[in-house]
Amino acid sequence: MGLKTNKIIVILTGAGISAESGLNTFRGPDGLWENHRLEDVATMDAYLKDPQLVWRFYSMRRIQAANADPNAAHKALASFAFEQSSHFDTYLISQNVDVLHQRADIHNRLDPICMHGSLHQTRCMGCEAVYFDDYAYFDLSGNYAPQETTLCNADQKASASYLHHYKLEYRNFLPISPCCKQPLRPHIVWFGEHPMYMEKIIPIVQKANIFVTIGTSGVVYPAAGFLEMAKINGAHTVCINQEMIPQSSLIDEFIQGNAGEKVSEFLESLSKSS
Ligand code: OAD
Repeated sequence: MGLKTNKIIVILTGAGISAESGLNTFRGPDGLWENHRLEDVATMDAYLKDPQLVWRFYSMRRIQAANADPNAAHKALASFAFEQSSHFDTYLISQNVDVLHQRADIHNRLDPICMHGSLHQTRCMGCEAVYFDDYAYFDLSGNYAPQETTLCNADQKASASYLHHYKLEYRNFLPISPCCKQPLRPHIVWFGEHPMYMEKIIPIVQKANIFVTIGTSGVVYPAAGFLEMAKINGAHTVCINQEMIPQSSLIDEFIQGNAGEKVSEFLESLSKSS
């Protein structure tokens, strides 16, 4: 008798999965970028020109993300990975930096691969050391007012790599790394930079039996190319989104609607079929 092997399900999420948690998507009518010119806040040039503006923007995003809660879709993915672990190997790749997947992952089974970085981490411009850091260095009015947020969990806050702002040196109100005494930057992929963990992501996408894209507009590469990569390698492809995305010809199953409702329904039907 042959050994039963688990099916491999690979999920790619974008800003749409967090919309029902109250966080703006990028390209919707209230799109985040509409209030800020992209090149003013999310590029290395912007950081070199006006690091305070960039840290104000990311402080705002840290506060907004910390004030949001994981919704039914984040929770359903975390539960599925845990409860169905004897039938499915679940991999989650996210373009989101909002930490909601991690905060929903109470069973520690999802371990999301955050290819665009994460709001609860900060990086040294010198040696590239990555730290846990959930401080908003500026308040929502843009005033210098370092405040801890809830983006890091208790273990991360207790770890040696958590940056306590009162232990940091500052230059022009900006935090300086404890390792190299160099400026610290958000651990976020800016425009013109390479996404993270691609060497880990590509083999995962290629071995998917089921590939599910959720709440992403499918226009930002390389993530937008994962669906095709999975399809070419024989995956059944599913798209859960409010609207059809440009890769329509590659999608086997399109589930139109809100992620909060549709993700749980889809995962339940998958669990029943296993
Ligand atoms: P977008 O804002 O481009 O797309 C969000 C998608 O989610 C759209 O197709 C919406 O129709 C859909 N959507 C909105 N609300 C939804 C809901 N409640 N349920 C289901 N779907 C919903 O966001 P992303 O595709 O994540 O990159 O954007 C990709 C990347 O572009 C981001 O990671 C960011 C940005 O520039 C970087 O910052 C590097």
